[in-house]
Amino acid sequence: MNILGIETSCDETSVAVVKDGTTLLSNIVLSQIDIHKEFGGVVPEIAARSHIEAIIPVIQESLNQAFNRGGVKQIQDKALWNNVDAIAVTYGPGLLGSLLVGVLTARTLAMTKNLPLYPINHVEGHVYANFINPQSSTNKNWAPPEFPMLALIVSGGHSQLVLFKDHGDYKLLGQTQDDAIGEAFDKVARVLGLPYPGGPSISKASLKGNPNVYKFPISRMSGKYDFSFSGLKTAVLRKIQEICGKPYDFPSSELSKLLTHETRDDISASFQKTAVKTVVDKTLLAYNEFKPKSVVIGGGVAANMELRSQLKKSLPVQINYASPQLCTDNAAMIASLAYFQSQRTQPVDPCSLEIDPSLRMEVRK
Ligand code: KG4
Ligand code: ZN
Repeated sequence: MNILGIETSCDETSVAVVKDGTTLLSNIVLSQIDIHKEFGGVVPEIAARSHIEAIIPVIQESLNQAFNRGGVKQIQDKALWNNVDAIAVTYGPGLLGSLLVGVLTARTLAMTKNLPLYPINHVEGHVYANFINPQSSTNKNWAPPEFPMLALIVSGGHSQLVLFKDHGDYKLLGQTQDDAIGEAFDKVARVLGLPYPGGPSISKASLKGNPNVYKFPISRMSGKYDFSFSGLKTAVLRKIQEICGKPYDFPSSELSKLLTHETRDDISASFQKTAVKTVVDKTLLAYNEFKPKSVVIGGGVAANMELRSQLKKSLPVQINYASPQLCTDNAAMIASLAYFQSQRTQPVDPCSLEIDPSLRMEVRK
């Protein structure tokens, strides 16, 4: 079953085709990072407008890459669409205007091509990057993760620990009570004068820094598996103010000019080590309590090498990591989850599918 997935929840316009949930036929991701960079973050109106401009060419390219390697066919071409068995689309959570573009496009395609339509939760979708066969020659023994499966979802908008008994049968163990971990990376990077998105910038700066120079606190939460990153973010800001000899009300955008590159790199590495340890400690706690058969990570921060290395050192189970391109937002994970969803649930009526910008991970059977 070939599913065409559409993902436009934030600032990536992505369309992918995945066969039977595990075989990647195409995954086109058009990032708007260069557009939003100058504003230091995603501007919702610009994101929605950019999706409108990009969505049709991205669908075209995804179909061509999946089914027409020999030449270029037009999006109207029936021969291309004959290979597609269903459409999947992210309907939440995410930015309202961005979600609307993807959902309206998917609804229109489902109606005009007479294809079943599956609505997908973006956060749950991140977990399914791990169900896509990496097709690497060094990985001939690849198999999808086994259940029960513990999933750590770490992105720009979410930080959650979820225990899956099976596809669609999961329990939310805990989540961040304030900022998401990716958001903390982005905010700390901004104070340090590092470019957006902050995660990759901090990761790069950390390679040159010493993670043991500064000691930052890990917040204690009442929920056993809950996280918090806002205290850590403030502790980093206070440390920078102290190093620069500036009061709390000094403009934070001016602080980075007063730091040496060496100090900036040491702060990056010390922050990264603490942020990562926060989620690794809770993952280990959950592993010890629930003894899952597999552990997976998903979301943009899953591309972080310090996270991968700390997990490797802490957990007694081997983790098969998805490629960094499948960790950040992409439509392949959406199409993959839709396949497993299609085995249990009916498609929705394309006339009535609405977006849900604040959609949560619900417990479904
Ligand atoms: O999953 P994603 O692409 O979008 C959301 O659903 O939020 O995640 C984006 C987040 C950003 O906060 C970005 O800074 C972070 O993932 N990120 C990273 C890395 N690559 C992306 N954080 C740490 N290390 C990375 N290598
Ligand atoms: Zn995401």
